[in-house]
Amino acid sequence: MELPRLALVGYGRMGREIESLARRRGFAVTAIFSRSRPLTSVQELTEADVVVDFSVAEAVPHTAQLALQAGKRLVIGTTGWEAYREELRRQTDAWGGGVVYASNFAIGVQLLYHLVQQAARFIARMPDYDIFLHEIHHRHKRDAPSGTARKLAELILRELPRKRTASTATEGPLPEDVLHVSASRGGEVIGTHTVYIDAPGESVELIHRAKSRESFAAGALLAAQWIASRQGFYEFSDVLRALLG
Ligand SMILES: NC(=O)c1ccc[n+]([C@@H]2O[C@H](COP(=O)([O-])OP(=O)(O)OC[C@H]3O[C@@H](n4cnc5c(N)ncnc54)[C@H](OP(=O)(O)O)[C@@H]3O)[C@@H](O)[C@H]2O)c1
Repeated sequence: MELPRLALVGYGRMGREIESLARRRGFAVTAIFSRSRPLTSVQELTEADVVVDFSVAEAVPHTAQLALQAGKRLVIGTTGWEAYREELRRQTDAWGGGVVYASNFAIGVQLLYHLVQQAARFIARMPDYDIFLHEIHHRHKRDAPSGTARKLAELILRELPRKRTASTATEGPLPEDVLHVSASRGGEVIGTHTVYIDAPGESVELIHRAKSRESFAAGALLAAQWIASRQGFYEFSDVLRALLG
């Protein structure tokens, strides 16, 4: 199957990584947009099949509108735009478009999601086993906690009824029904997510460490290839389920 032609929105750490990997793998990159060279019209997307957005949350609605109007598929790796998600789902269906999104396109993080769901289900009947999570990213990152940490919290809350809400608050004792989520920022850490399970006599840690940005770029390219010939609104985990069965 022919590789889709890509337009990139966002040309920072991730945009550059995707361009580099895409070219090495034989994808054509037909246009690149950033804050200093913004996407302003559907005509600018004519040459592309799939728009790949790794920019900033505020830019996502505008990019998505133009991609849908242009009849282009869309892969969104940008984080922090959850408030717009349901509206984009409706718009995608209304336009007959195709979107894949993920706060983390690394395959290893998809595995972590799976393991954490299993772990949360496992301790659901063991009240002595508490669970909490921590993430570390480079000092340039805008959102905190990360989209991946918010997704991990969502999965834990879904599987573990005794945790009713997630919170980043650190003052005072932690109520038993609160899932604590914390974040650190510093240096050039690409991204580390740790889920801790702690009981009186033992502890378990599930850790994902991104060693480079290539794993995110590879997942985004896989999603671009997959969505190029499809319609609908998907999370990356749906794509992997479809591919792996
Ligand atoms: N899903 C994943 O797997 C994954 C992995 C890593 C990061 N991310 C997320 O991806 C996003 C980008 O991360 P990054 O590290 O590449 O950030 P970054 O290095 O700060 O790059 C952001 C890029 O967005 C551009 N931009 C800003 N406003 C824009 C606008 N209105 N229209 C178009 N482009 C605009 C910037 O343009 P200028 O250069 O002109 O300022 C810059 O090129 C973040 O939300 C991050 O959390 C997701």
